[in-house]
Amino acid sequence: MTAPGTVPQHIAIVMDGNGRWATRRYLPRVAGHKKGVDALRACVRHCGDRGVKVLTVFAFSSENWNRPPEEVSGLMELLAMALSREVPQLQSEGVRIHFIGDRSALSEKVRNGLEQAEAATAGNARLVFNICFNYGGRWDIAQAAAKLAARGEPITEQSMDRAMALAHVSDPDLLIRTGGEQRISNFLLWQAAYSELYFSDKLWPDFDAAAIDEAIADYARRERRFGRTSEQLAQPADTGRKAA
Ligand code: IPE
Ligand code: IPE
Ligand code: MG
Repeated sequence: MTAPGTVPQHIAIVMDGNGRWATRRYLPRVAGHKKGVDALRACVRHCGDRGVKVLTVFAFSSENWNRPPEEVSGLMELLAMALSREVPQLQSEGVRIHFIGDRSALSEKVRNGLEQAEAATAGNARLVFNICFNYGGRWDIAQAAAKLAARGEPITEQSMDRAMALAHVSDPDLLIRTGGEQRISNFLLWQAAYSELYFSDKLWPDFDAAAIDEAIADYARRERRFGRTSEQLAQPADTGRKAA
């Protein structure tokens, strides 16, 4: 159980609002995504500094293929470019990159970029950085179940946990969505079962270190009960269900 006042060990973010950020400035939507990369760079650094252990971000959903082709290709380009540019800095900050999603539909260039970034940072342990790209919560649940079925393993909550794409980390403690919408949009459907939800009206490119601190402070005021009562949580002998 995470004690009140502590920093969330795992923060997950739906980085929404790049398009509106650009449109408000009469810029093409891709300019908003570029600005979003700047916000993400600062966010990774700040989370590391605050002692967050895992950061999981939603960068491209299974449904985002439905966007105009020039925006989709712009996002693919941007990912490949960002990976090649940012890895040395992430490396020096002790960040370990994991790509989470269906790689099969991605171009070879993007796939290679992801694999290289993962390999280059595999020895790092200060902050685990999961990039969900061509990811959907339903895809993850279905691929986990298919994996178990193919191996003839029984389907239980534990075996599913182990087969999911985020099996290497505990469930998110705090799930943030920027951009004003209050929905999950097919992100972490399985893992967010007990995440604290935090919605911000700020558009993702404007979500700065102060905004992250506000979200962390809000989280610290929450009481995570995991089905129990407040009175039970107040009893020191009763440690409650583990958050992990
Ligand atoms: C989120 O920003 C980034 C991606 C989905 C890739 P949007 O592009 O959805 O921004 P809005 O919601 O249109 O403002
Ligand atoms: C969710 O944002 C996906 C990402 C941030 C990558 P969307 O902008 O695609 O979500 P909807 O379509 O508004 O639900
Ligand atoms: Mg959006």
